[in-house]
Formats: sequence, structure tokens, C-alpha cells
Amino acid sequence: VDEAARIAEIIEDCRQLEGPMLPILHRVQEEFGFIPESARQVIAKALNLSRAEVHGVVSFYHDFKDHPAGRHTLKLCRAEACQSMGCESLAEKAKAKLGIDWHETTFDGAVTLEPVFCLGLCAQAPAAMLDGELFARLDEDCLNDIVAEVRA
Ligand code: FES
Repeated sequence: VDEAARIAEIIEDCRQLEGPMLPILHRVQEEFGFIPESARQVIAKALNLSRAEVHGVVSFYHDFKDHPAGRHTLKLCRAEACQSMGCESLAEKAKAKLGIDWHETTFDGAVTLEPVFCLGLCAQAPAAMLDGELFARLDEDCLNDIVAEVRA
């Protein structure tokens, strides 16, 4: 099934819902991993909105990506226990090493950086998750290893 046809189907499925835009965007994101530019136009037309309105919603919610996510996703915990163990300074280092900010993807498509609020490892803070694999007591060495791994 091509992209346009699939997007049209999703819109058809959801358009009877009250407030169909978010359900449509969620399903498009689920299937494609991001919201393609073409989808925004079609969604705007189907819902009688301007492209700017659809774009506004896509950029407001960080869950929606306007480009494919990186091959890896690095999530750094920013909740309280991790904060008290210095996660913010590690996060700054991670951003500097990768050259990106939260929710961004490195130019080579290697990694997307996302904040997360508690990974359930508070007793071993600071915590991180790389593609579903948990890291406890994250320190700079460990961070360097992770960065090297995602860049490999
Ligand atoms: Fe970071 Fe719970 S606060 S793992």
C-alpha cells in the first residue's frame, strides 16, 4: 500500500470521531514513524483546516516527529531522583557530544535524544535507556560508550 493511500484510509477511519486530528496524527506517526509533509496537506484538506493549523499541532506535541527518528533513541531520565544525581549536567554533555537538543536527531540519522520522566531506576540514578536497554548509574564514561555505540 502506498503512503498516500494508507493516509487516506487512516483519515477515513477517524474522521467521524470528535476531534479527529489527534487520532489521525497518532496513527500516521505509528505507521510511518513520523508525520510526512504530504500527510499534513491531506489531513488539512480532509478536516477543512489550513496546513498551518495541522503543522501547529504537529510541532506542539513532541510525540509527533516531522522527520524519521534516528536509528537509535537515547532517553535520559530527568525526573527528581535522577536530577538529584546530576542528570542535567550529563544531559548537557550528551547534547554537546551529539550536537543536538532534546527531541532532535543527529544529522547522520544515528540517534534521537529524548527526555523521559522516571525509568523506575531511581535507586540507581541517574538512569538512561538506549533502544529499550536500561542503563543505571550513568556517568560520563558510560555516556561516552553509548555515544560511541550509536555512532558506530
Ligand atoms: Fe530517574 Fe526514577 S527518577 S529513574
